[in-house]
Amino acid sequence: MEKALELLHDDLIGVEAQFKKDLTSEVLLIRKVGEYVLASGGKRIRPMLLLLCARLAGYRGDKHVGLASVVEFIHTATLLHDDVVDSAVLRRGNASANAIWGNEASVLVGDFLFAKSFSIMVRGGSLKILQALSDATTMMAEGEVLQLVSTCDLDLDEERYISVVRNKTAVLIAAACEVGGILGGIGEAREKALHEFGMELGIAFQFMDDALDYVADQAEFGKVKGHDLEEGKVTLPLIQALRKCSEEERERLAEIVELEALSDEDLGYVVSLIDRYDGIGYTRQRARELVEKAKVHLAGFADGPEKAALFELADYAVNRRK
Ligand code: IPE
Ligand code: IPE
Ligand code: MG
Ligand code: MG
Repeated sequence: MEKALELLHDDLIGVEAQFKKDLTSEVLLIRKVGEYVLASGGKRIRPMLLLLCARLAGYRGDKHVGLASVVEFIHTATLLHDDVVDSAVLRRGNASANAIWGNEASVLVGDFLFAKSFSIMVRGGSLKILQALSDATTMMAEGEVLQLVSTCDLDLDEERYISVVRNKTAVLIAAACEVGGILGGIGEAREKALHEFGMELGIAFQFMDDALDYVADQAEFGKVKGHDLEEGKVTLPLIQALRKCSEEERERLAEIVELEALSDEDLGYVVSLIDRYDGIGYTRQRARELVEKAKVHLAGFADGPEKAALFELADYAVNRRK
């Protein structure tokens, strides 16, 4: 993502400064937890997409940095909640906030970040932007609940899995891109094109997260390997294996997915099945197709450094290792 980092260098410094300002609270624990997660080195994909789309849309005002930081605030709030729900102990290579301060603190500070995001948006004064981002957060909550009720369900098919992914992850990425367009005031059709670009990219991004959950280098990925399986999450690499495996293999998978704690042997067995039925290759292939479809949505925008940086970010969604 070198192109984006170079192009957005100053704006991204502005985004980091904005986090610090928006985290001010009389309540020490909010500052502590908030600063801990925000300083722990997320990739900042969503702010970068918003900033690039705003530039692509010809925006030259001063609201983009604040909104980029709001989008990352929303993302951070969902991560705090997600790690409680997923019982995650590692995030961005460090102990998760819930592992350090407990579930209660994570949920409540997540709520603070959500609420704060909306205060900042209202102050920004654009009802259209408020609508886009509040629709996104509503759908994200739906996605997380949809995922919860699909836990350990080996009949979860690709279509239903995609609807979880679309909601829990892609809608926020789509909204970030769309908000860039709204700032530029480029009209419904092109704002929608940016939204669609973000949506396809966002689905691909989560596909790869789910592949990396099985095969990443844990130190680089910064999250515990095999954790989705341990949590009973049925994701695309496993769905692909389930489609092709024997009845006997499926029965063993059904037992493993229900286990509270996963042994190295169990994980090794599932990884070998995914390997045999090319679950990772299939997932990566589907992600690649989505990213190519995403790029087509930018056809109506002028070529230039912004578009090149957006293409590079789209490719990064598939090629990333963290
Ligand atoms: C993690 O998002 C949650 C998913 C949607 C997969 P990121 O991979 O963007 O997380 P950070 O912010 O870079 O840590
Ligand atoms: C992304 O799903 C959830 C959010 C959108 C918060 P995951 O549960 O796979 O994300 P990670 O792997 O914990 O980052
Ligand atoms: Mg999670
Ligand atoms: Mg994950």
